[in-house]
Amino acid sequence: MIEKLNDNFSLKNGGYSNSEDTTTLPRHRWYYYKEGFSPNLVEKAIEHVGVKKGELIIDPFNGGGTTTLTSSLLGHNSIGIEVNPFTSFLSDAKIKNADISKFKNIESDLLQFIERSAKSPLLGYSTFSEKENLKKWLFNDSVLNSFEAGWQYSNSIPSYDIRKLIKLALISSAMKNGNAKRDGKCLRYRNNWDKNSFNKDTFNETLVNSISIIKDDIQSNPIQSRSKILKGDCRIVLESSDELKNFKLCVTSPPYLNTFDYTDIYRPELFLGKFIQTSQKLYDLRLETVRSHVQAKWNMPIMNDFGLLYEQTIKHINENKENLMHKNIPFMIQAYFEDMLNILKMLKAKAAKDAQVWFVVSNSAYAGLEIPVDLIIGDIASKAGWYLKEIGVLRYVKKRKTKYSPNVTELRESVIILSALK
Ligand SMILES: C[S@@+](CC[C@H](N)C(=O)[O-])C[C@H]1O[C@@H](n2cnc3c(N)ncnc32)[C@H](O)[C@@H]1O
Repeated sequence: MIEKLNDNFSLKNGGYSNSEDTTTLPRHRWYYYKEGFSPNLVEKAIEHVGVKKGELIIDPFNGGGTTTLTSSLLGHNSIGIEVNPFTSFLSDAKIKNADISKFKNIESDLLQFIERSAKSPLLGYSTFSEKENLKKWLFNDSVLNSFEAGWQYSNSIPSYDIRKLIKLALISSAMKNGNAKRDGKCLRYRNNWDKNSFNKDTFNETLVNSISIIKDDIQSNPIQSRSKILKGDCRIVLESSDELKNFKLCVTSPPYLNTFDYTDIYRPELFLGKFIQTSQKLYDLRLETVRSHVQAKWNMPIMNDFGLLYEQTIKHINENKENLMHKNIPFMIQAYFEDMLNILKMLKAKAAKDAQVWFVVSNSAYAGLEIPVDLIIGDIASKAGWYLKEIGVLRYVKKRKTKYSPNVTELRESVIILSALK
């Protein structure tokens, strides 16, 4: 497997595995999705494979929708699957068209509603707003109440697409006027957050600006392809949906094997947008995600035939259990590779005879060992019936020193390129 690793890959160190460049790009910039890859990666894959108009491009872990949006902007049909209802909403909104002449009245009505304000159901809930004995809270009351008034108004907008776009602008404006922002695995309070005094006026200003950007981008970058987002667990949707049949290219990035919980980190958006209304529902959603974290009580994995590298890895992990940050890590590692094998098999069953998969992953570190996730998935892909073309190194990411793996200082991020044809 190691012989397939290309450390001189042409895309190495070109910013392909992160989304920093999306902050200024039309439509992508409607919401910064930190965990995404670059649209340039999708463009390179499309070019490399020579995808023709009418051929389908898919992403079973669609996240903020980089694959579906980039493909759609280039005129290709694309389908994304995403389990998180906020992110599936986000990626769907990004590929919407709308008659922008209708925005004018909507915008003035929206601002009038916000002026009147409405009581947010999140006031006093958990850490969402200020209350007795709470040192920090996510939103100031006037931001929550302005958001709520806008949300109530948006429900009366007759056009489904415009309603969706206004809702996205509302969520984005609330988050930009929130006291904390996403930072790695957690939400971090902004410097001097208590002095920032975000309020109705700052919220309105952000909202007007967000809507203006959305209008500009719809006009300058209309979508001319037939693309869609399927909301759900790809481990089920991939098997049940006929729409994915005969796909030509899949560009995707599953959650990394790093205990990052995509449901928890998007908790503010999930509750703001009323996608989730109780902690129990949030927990239920976790059970639908790929088994890459330790926050839920998953079903036990059954398979363990993932090749020699996996065997060496799991042996080391089991022999060094005292150096693990959580007792469920061995189980998570096995379950993760079981999920990857099943997904790669389902992808193979839906692929066109000359299809390719571009699968972006990162290695991880547990009990002092760097786990070669890319090489193990290379082994697994062959078992799933794919031909492994190469594993292209995209970059080495510096890793913070931890008590459990002090010797691992950087982790490899790579793209595993699989072909249905030898
Ligand atoms: C690394 S992110 C993908 C980012 C994406 N490439 C982009 O550029 O925006 C992984 C995504 O997989 C989603 N996910 C996790 N488990 C899933 C499942 N079982 N089915 C579908 N999506 C899932 C997460 O919610 C997350 O949005």
